Amino acid sequence: MKKKEPYLQPTLEQDDFKGSTILILDFGSQYTQVIARRVRECSVYSLVMPFGTKAAEIRRVAPRGIILSGGPASVYSKGAPQPDPKIFELDIPILGICYGLQLVAHLLGGKVEHSDRREYGPGLLDVSGESQLFEGLGRHVDIWNSHGDKVTRLPRGFRAIGSTEHSPNAAIEHVKKRIFGLQFHPEVVHTPRGKEIIQNFVHGICGCTMDWTMGSFIEQTCERLRERVGRHRVILGLSGGVDSSVTAALLHKAIGNQLTCIFVDNGLLRAREADVVRRVFAENFRIRLKVVSAGRQFLSKLKGIVSPERKRKIIGREFIRVFEGTARQLASRTRGMGEGGGYKFLAQGTLYPDVIESVAIAGNPAALIKSHHNVGGLPERMKFELIEPLRQLFKDEVRQVGLQLGLPHEVVQRQPFPGPGLAVRILGEVTPERLRILREADTVVISEMKAADWYYKVWQSFAVLLPVRSVGVMGDERTYENTCAIRVVESQDGMTADWVRLPYDLLARISTRIINEVRGINRVCFDISSKPPATIEWE
Ligand code: XMP
Repeated sequence: MKKKEPYLQPTLEQDDFKGSTILILDFGSQYTQVIARRVRECSVYSLVMPFGTKAAEIRRVAPRGIILSGGPASVYSKGAPQPDPKIFELDIPILGICYGLQLVAHLLGGKVEHSDRREYGPGLLDVSGESQLFEGLGRHVDIWNSHGDKVTRLPRGFRAIGSTEHSPNAAIEHVKKRIFGLQFHPEVVHTPRGKEIIQNFVHGICGCTMDWTMGSFIEQTCERLRERVGRHRVILGLSGGVDSSVTAALLHKAIGNQLTCIFVDNGLLRAREADVVRRVFAENFRIRLKVVSAGRQFLSKLKGIVSPERKRKIIGREFIRVFEGTARQLASRTRGMGEGGGYKFLAQGTLYPDVIESVAIAGNPAALIKSHHNVGGLPERMKFELIEPLRQLFKDEVRQVGLQLGLPHEVVQRQPFPGPGLAVRILGEVTPERLRILREADTVVISEMKAADWYYKVWQSFAVLLPVRSVGVMGDERTYENTCAIRVVESQDGMTADWVRLPYDLLARISTRIINEVRGINRVCFDISSKPPATIEWE
């Protein structure tokens, strides 16, 4: 049986936006999130909901348009995901993409058949007739295909507005009902003018206004936060990473001193990290910040531990212990403050991709259940209500919000840093001396990457301390010292990654400086493995 969730379950109402909204029904395509982002790039809010969402619920959300995503199924296969058929009677424009197009054809009386020729990859669309969907695009459009089925007979009232070599009905429309279908993917970058097609749909056909801006988001969210929090207080675990930093700045704008941030210095941070957090949040923003220096406690628990998994478990457990203890202290101090004076809420920097994952699962029981990595773990026994002010946003939007709220570039654009910190970059036992060595080497990597204008172009760049010593010579002296590896990767989301082909002279500077300046290292290597099969972090 599923463990009882200690937090309030987030509701979809939290994701409503007062402005034009495009609703995307998710049929399981790997591109669903990309569609949502493309719509937002048109300054229009987009919301992803499970494919089976009832028409009545859709009416409540009142979107200006509906997009049916692609998906891996075939419309005629058993158990194929289907929308509520009443969505076609809502008098809201609909655009079906790939599987979405096939659904439109299948459900409204057309015919979809398995094609002998699977169309995959680049293709050319011949536009026929005049359709608002292709306005301004000319007669030939480069497109990206990925489908096996095709529409062989149109439903009544529909006409073809585009064809490809093997599909006469690659784009269709019902002018009066404002229902459209595309067999290709306008949302992917390989359809170079796909954005114009999406713009034509959301602006031209649905009449959406461009009201989704980070300014309007900040305004509406602050209002909602004030309403929800009332006179209570909020606790936030601040890690110094982008998501928790922006959550802090946003909550502070909304509720000021009712927010308290807890920053746990676990002794495994990079050089100056705690100072930057203190300077930015306590001094500049004047946010109530509780810094807990727990380095000794973490290091003593890590003594003698070399297994990567055990390190991670110990650090996770200690973090919860320290955070809970601090939260309890704070709560006990405000207990006497009567109704509304105490800490009732715990804030988290959950982003939209995590929310969509949970939503997709709710509508699709067959999907594998993924654990929601941002929820859980934190003070479960303490009955906080969860607040997730960034749950509507994609990462690039979070960065924009951070900049608008006045967070420095250095914080908003910073590279990801793992929760267990430098402990997973020190192979073998974590000791104060090895932490010193790695911190110094890492500082060289960061400063040289910044000086060469590479730091903000890559996903991550850092040093790893290996449990290997080798012989070297310095002056006339023989040395027998540590080896460090440099890891520099590019990635979209951390799921896959490739090593960055840095210029040799930059690598040479990094290596020379580390060996000259960091006592304890006499050899530097460059990691040229991609993920998969390697991972980004070494442990
Ligand atoms: P891997 O090493 O699995 O890392 O390829 C993928 C991305 O996740 C980051 N990472 C973590 N982030 N807590 C975090 O918040 C963790 O325990 C953790 N482990 C890895 C890693 O830095 C990379 O960006």
